[in-house]
Amino acid sequence: MSSTVLTSRSSLLSERSAAVVSATASVVAAHAEQITARFYPRMFAEHPELLRLFNQGNQATGEQSRALAASVVAYAVQLIDPAAPSFDHVLERIAHKHISLGIRPEQYTIVGHHLLGAVGEVLGDAVTPEIADAWNEVYWLFATQLIAEEARLYQQAGVDPARPLRRYRVVRRIEETQDVVSLVLEPEDEGGLPEIIPGQYVSLFVDLPNGQRQPRQYTVSSTGTGNRLQITVRRVRGVNGAPDGQVSGYLHDIVKVGDVLEVSAPAGDFFIQPSNGPLLLASAGAGITTVLPIVEHIARTQPDRTVIVAHADRTAQDHALRETVLHVGRQLDDFTAYTWYAAVDPEDRRSHQGFMDLSNIPLPADIQVFTCGPLPFMRHVRATLLARGIPASRIRYEVFGPDLWATQMSA
Ligand SMILES: Cc1cc2nc3c(=O)[nH]c(=O)nc-3n(C[C@H](O)[C@H](O)[C@H](O)COP(=O)(O)OP(=O)(O)OC[C@H]3O[C@@H](n4cnc5c(N)ncnc54)[C@H](O)[C@@H]3O)c2cc1C
Ligand code: HEM
Repeated sequence: MSSTVLTSRSSLLSERSAAVVSATASVVAAHAEQITARFYPRMFAEHPELLRLFNQGNQATGEQSRALAASVVAYAVQLIDPAAPSFDHVLERIAHKHISLGIRPEQYTIVGHHLLGAVGEVLGDAVTPEIADAWNEVYWLFATQLIAEEARLYQQAGVDPARPLRRYRVVRRIEETQDVVSLVLEPEDEGGLPEIIPGQYVSLFVDLPNGQRQPRQYTVSSTGTGNRLQITVRRVRGVNGAPDGQVSGYLHDIVKVGDVLEVSAPAGDFFIQPSNGPLLLASAGAGITTVLPIVEHIARTQPDRTVIVAHADRTAQDHALRETVLHVGRQLDDFTAYTWYAAVDPEDRRSHQGFMDLSNIPLPADIQVFTCGPLPFMRHVRATLLARGIPASRIRYEVFGPDLWATQMSA
């Protein structure tokens, strides 16, 4: 799958608006989270049908609101500051997420109306018509680029955005660990599997027992068996009084073999390039779901490629897909596996205790890194590897939630 150069920077914004945006960017940035926190209730009040598209867990924790605020501010900054870091990867990530949810161009009018309305609500009389016009221009530049990229991705995937979901039957459940289940899915129609690039995810829409319809993303953890794809779901438990995860709980407790799930086409830009360079796949917890499909793919297509997998988990018993990854890894000529557990079994002489520490493991100089796990874990991995001289451009990551990291990174 090719990636497009999406932005041509400051020339996009009219000169008049550029001056206004420069003068007001810091005020908007300072209030961005307040603005997006107002935006969602406004929009949902007028368009309750959109509640079914937005992850209500991310609404409750405020993560989606923060991701939206950060992306709009970062977009505006890179329009007015030619020295700002490239925005392409942020745009690409959002476009992939949108197409997995069937977002359509006409919905941008609704979002724009309520986003700019929320700016007015929060900043009040400070928003002169000139300021409103300039930020309207920023919004529509952003929207236009997203709409164009989403149109390209829909076309590439052969998906009609009016009908983004297919019905898949659950043909098998594999209880991987106490908290992790794999669901093997087969399309109900005769269409065969879509092209799935290892590392990509699908959006699943489920009708919960409380009447809510909700989407969630799950990485395609294996495509190893003919017309079947697999997702692997870790049960999310609520901590400090927060509720247990809705959809993961539903998939664990209610979904059974024979049930039908509504599933999007594969999306996401977390995938390896077709070179033959060595790879480090560093995962923690549910992040292991991105490792298996990549190792499977390399075993099928490039068994002489060097692959190092490093995984951190609570215990060996919590380490899902462990045996499968090792089994597939044995088909490679040069495969090394490292593990770190918070609690190591006394008889386990190979695993390390505690946090993953990549500072001393042997790594080829031209290593490409793919990391997936909780944000603090990935920050730690990235910092260790940067300190070892691995350039940031060779470290890719996948966040299992709204990406609050991309817009904070300088390199
Ligand atoms: C690209 C991508 C790929 C992914 N791949 C995988 C995968 O392969 N495997 C996997 O297991 N997961 C994966 N995920 C994560 C998955 O999409 C879900 O986020 C996860 O299953 C949790 O969903 P849930 O409905 O169970 O939890 P939710 O109900 O959404 O809850 C999420 C969190 O919010 C908290 N919360 C909810 N409501 C409140 C409230 N009112 N107050 C305070 N806190 C609250 C919950 O306690 C919980 O901690 C992926 C995510 C993305 C974005
Ligand atoms: C310029 C306009 C828009 C911007 C800047 C924007 C930005 C974002 C961002 C930053 C994310 C999080 C991506 C991630 O996972 O890291 C996101 C997700 C999402 N967007 Fe948009 N978006 C825009 C328009 C729209 C429109 C028109 C819709 C349709 C109603 C929409 C619906 C969604 C949904 C449903 C999600 C997933 C939310 C979640 O999982 O919590 N967006 N968007």
